[in-house]
Amino acid sequence: MSRKRVGILTGGGDAPGLNAVIRAFVKRAVGQLNWHVVGIEDSFNGLMSDPHRVQKLTPKSCQGLLHRGGTILGTTNRGDPFAYLMPNGEVKDLSKRIADGVLRERLDGLVVIGGDGTQAIGLRLMSARGIPVVGVPKTIDNDLSSTDVTFGFQSAVDVATEALDRLHTTGESHDRVMFLEVMGRDAGHIALTAGIAGGADVILIPEIPYVPKRVAEKIETRRRRGRPFSIVVVAEGALPVGHETLTTRQRKEILSKEGGAAAIAMRALCGEVSSEMRSTVLGHLQRGGSPCAFDRVLATRFGAHAVDLVANDLWGSMVCIRDGAMSHVSIEDAVETYRLVDPAGELVTAAQHVGVEFGGL
Ligand code: F6P
Repeated sequence: MSRKRVGILTGGGDAPGLNAVIRAFVKRAVGQLNWHVVGIEDSFNGLMSDPHRVQKLTPKSCQGLLHRGGTILGTTNRGDPFAYLMPNGEVKDLSKRIADGVLRERLDGLVVIGGDGTQAIGLRLMSARGIPVVGVPKTIDNDLSSTDVTFGFQSAVDVATEALDRLHTTGESHDRVMFLEVMGRDAGHIALTAGIAGGADVILIPEIPYVPKRVAEKIETRRRRGRPFSIVVVAEGALPVGHETLTTRQRKEILSKEGGAAAIAMRALCGEVSSEMRSTVLGHLQRGGSPCAFDRVLATRFGAHAVDLVANDLWGSMVCIRDGAMSHVSIEDAVETYRLVDPAGELVTAAQHVGVEFGGL
């Protein structure tokens, strides 16, 4: 195996487990194979600035990272090097700076840890600028179709589940209907999984537009049966029926203008539900902090496997897990489609079998 020189970076929103990937990659690539690895700061930006913002990574510099949240390299989910917004408002293509940076650092290629947006930029850097790239998938949203699961998702689910447990006891004590809004972008995976784990009565997800009357009926039926409190999990992209033909941008506009998905759901149920309603938006608590044990293991496997892809010059491919085993896919295929919740899938059905109301279908 030839001695490689590799740059590694994290892009997009952070996710618990990013540091564990970096650690695993460095432990194997530097500690065992004697490669040269540099960490590029703040996604691709570290190579676009003059001087470069890079740091040499060694097993020693990666000590204590396994359980540490965030990313030691920094990240950003703003800015595309091909259409970069300059401080003066001008939009410029700065991708050549990255290619120059790779040359100056004498790198064989980049390991890009990120979600679909970051992987798509990596792919474009490869085709337009000839920069060899290997991808490692990351997102708490779990919406990448080419991998069974991404690290960060389980940690986010655990945080949301704990929040639901806490809302349960206070909601029950006060006979209130407690809403918890969780992240997930356009997908309802976090809401669905945490909702089941946290014993939610209602789960509202973008993939199943809801009828407010049906949701109210579920809550009122519980009340009549002596359960005057209810737990409603709302994915941040969930909307009532009637918004199906809107573009993603229009949906986003409505959601932000109207104060978010939980606020919209609460207003839609106003007058239909007798109990007091309260809402909590969990926000970035789902992304911050330590990865759970599952994500530490998955991130370690991803990081260690990424070394194989680089060693075998499988540039243009992304690490993934399929049926429990490490594998890889082409980044091109990986960014092609999102994985949304299947409304007819086993998980939704299992939830329905234990009485969860989705408000639609
Ligand atoms: O993609 C991860 C994610 O946390 C989404 O669930 C959420 O919609 C988005 O990022 C939030 O991004 P930001 O941190 O920029 O608000």
